[in-house]
Amino acid sequence: MKTVLFYYSGTGNSLWSARLLAEKLDNAELRRLKGADVLAAGDAEAVGFVFPVHMWGVPRPVVEFIAKLALRPGTYLFAVAVNAGQVSRTLVQLRELLSRRGLALAAGFDIVLPSNYIPWGGAAPIERQNARFAAARLRLEQAAACIAGRETRAVERGPLWQRIIFTAIYRMSFNQVHKMDKDFWCDDRCNSCGICAQVCPAGNIELKNGRPDWLQRCEQCLACIQWCPQASIQFGKKTPGYERYHHPEISLPDMLH
Ligand SMILES: Cc1cc2nc3c(=O)[nH]c(=O)nc-3n(C[C@H](O)[C@H](O)[C@H](O)COP(=O)(O)O)c2cc1C
Ligand code: SF4
Ligand code: SF4
Repeated sequence: MKTVLFYYSGTGNSLWSARLLAEKLDNAELRRLKGADVLAAGDAEAVGFVFPVHMWGVPRPVVEFIAKLALRPGTYLFAVAVNAGQVSRTLVQLRELLSRRGLALAAGFDIVLPSNYIPWGGAAPIERQNARFAAARLRLEQAAACIAGRETRAVERGPLWQRIIFTAIYRMSFNQVHKMDKDFWCDDRCNSCGICAQVCPAGNIELKNGRPDWLQRCEQCLACIQWCPQASIQFGKKTPGYERYHHPEISLPDMLH
């Protein structure tokens, strides 16, 4: 009855969601989503994908992972799209990606947690974050019950206007994401600790003369800016004044594990 949960996470929200699901499911194992793990679901009877919504769709690392996925026919598949309130068409897109591989997505859950996209105004107030954690916990418990019962249900999705307008933006931006790191820079508080390079899931950061250098293969997960212990990484002009965000129950060692 083994369940494998593949997760992708920049700031811990998806890792926290995957952990909570794993606690509620019998014999569940967490695996960080990496290319090398594609064939590693082995004899799993159920496989889940837990990942953040990026620009109203499935982030590229998840798209690429699905494209290489090899699973036993009949594996029960589910997904959790972790987002900040605009899931849009993400889970429909994931269902289509799996369908092209001959795989059926049995259930897709929309889980709302605090936004990690701080260039649009910084982290939300703690009370608002806590309200989202509490609501998400309940939703994840319901999702776990559905998964444990191997239920099949329609994937969750945003309103039609989101699915039309935001999907167009997702498609236009998809090939630009790698280069969006041109707006990152580093201020004088940097102490050359190298954590930004370690936490980047895309291997997109190298230290040059003790300072991060971004290599234009960014996935915009925002892990580097959020986990820098000196808050010395900036994106554009406004972030020097903005609070950072990561899930409070997820630590840097959890992310690096
Ligand atoms: C580049 C980027 C794009 C995002 N786009 C969306 C989006 O389209 N809709 C949404 O609701 N949240 C969006 N978010 C917010 C994240 O989906 C949300 O904060 C998620 O919980 C982060 O998960 P993580 O901590 O596991 O990385 C975006 C975040 C980033 C960094
Ligand atoms: S994590 Fe921050 S302080 Fe450490 S090297 Fe990177 S930018 Fe500098
Ligand atoms: S450079 Fe920063 S935002 Fe880009 S993939 Fe790496 S950690 Fe994520």
